Amino acid sequence: MTNAELAALEFLVDAGITQAYSDEPNNRLQSVSPILAANIPDELPNTLPLAPAENALLMPHNDIIAEAQKLAAACTTLDDLKTAIQNFDGLDVKKTATQIVFADGNPAAKVMIIGEAPGADEDRHGKPFVGVSGQLLDKILACINLSRAGDTADNSVYISNILNWRPPGNRTPTQAEMEVAYPFIRRHIELVNPQILVFCGGVAAQTLLQSKESISRLRGTVYEYSDTVKAIATYHPAFLLRTPLQKKKVWDDMLMLQGVLNG
Ligand code: URA
Repeated sequence: MTNAELAALEFLVDAGITQAYSDEPNNRLQSVSPILAANIPDELPNTLPLAPAENALLMPHNDIIAEAQKLAAACTTLDDLKTAIQNFDGLDVKKTATQIVFADGNPAAKVMIIGEAPGADEDRHGKPFVGVSGQLLDKILACINLSRAGDTADNSVYISNILNWRPPGNRTPTQAEMEVAYPFIRRHIELVNPQILVFCGGVAAQTLLQSKESISRLRGTVYEYSDTVKAIATYHPAFLLRTPLQKKKVWDDMLMLQGVLNG
């Protein structure tokens, strides 16, 4: 394979195209492609041929969710959970990602931050929020004396994402992917058992609060995520990079977070 062919292939994989229809290229600029013409049967079958059932995503969606729930429930440590997610084949994003992006920071922290899904930088380093938006997140947290490098429950944070694999081309995770990832992040939260969750961005907030409201409406409230865990929602740092005027609202969210931490 030439470098140009390899680059073209990488481009397609990055864009989420991971399956070929045929071994031969199909020239769609021709009125009827020779491949298509050669393959049109005289009589069309009245049922579609099924592909071999070797891919987990061919399982009914509810079965994949049930499998994720069973695996997540069986995990009693964070290491168990990471291994379970790594071995789980129900999410196609695993195939295009370089590696799992599980978590960073101090698992004993009172604050657990949850984003949406890793991007290219996170995929490369195997850690959440290490790209430009992660650097902004670190600066925001530093304003209230929190850091992923902190060594006490009070001065540190623990960070993860709903989806632990980078979606190709940094696309937004699909609703179906979120549903499959949901049991794992729920278990992740149970195992860390923080005092408060901070959902970064609409996707994380909507998924974990099971709401369809916009992030603008979801922020500004302290939620009872469970009997022992509170939650707030705030804007995603990537949104702040595009819309710096909204930083003031995130500052208000951080003050609200500090208020909960200080009782
Ligand atoms: N955006 C996220 O939501 N999570 C990351 O880890 C990086 C960017």
